[in-house]
Amino acid sequence: MKILVVNGVNLNLTGKRETGVYGNLTLDEINDKIMAYCVSNGDEVRFFQSNVEGEIVNALHGAYLDGDVDVIVLNAGAFTHYSYAIRDAIAGISVPVLEVHMSNVHAREEFRKHSVLSPVCKGVTLGFGLGSYIGAIAGFKAQKENV
Ligand code: DQA
Repeated sequence: MKILVVNGVNLNLTGKRETGVYGNLTLDEINDKIMAYCVSNGDEVRFFQSNVEGEIVNALHGAYLDGDVDVIVLNAGAFTHYSYAIRDAIAGISVPVLEVHMSNVHAREEFRKHSVLSPVCKGVTLGFGLGSYIGAIAGFKAQKENV
């Protein structure tokens, strides 16, 4: 399976910002652990991060148009709550997108409880830090392979 992990706005500061919420692992450390997990399962994974909405859209389009990705794991950060552009990009591609949040957004501020992306995503994992990414991949794989 070929996996693309996309992280959006402010996720580059993971491990440095709001560590009480997002933990101490940097994004590179999280990505290394996701990589190790995927390799141990015989899967391929690559990573993309941007603070720019349009670059996230381009990454989603690219994964679809190049035809070399089976599933996209997306933590869009705050874009989750208002980006109709990213929502439309997800709706416009046939590659399944898994929405991920490290924190439990439902236990936080009111504005975080609404995702404009969830209705067009295949599934959602949240609240488990690094485990939200791993859980998304594991859940998708379990369904695909009927384990
Ligand atoms: C987040 C939750 C969002 O509400 C927030 O804006 C983020 C990170 C998470 O991973 O918990 O930047 O997506």
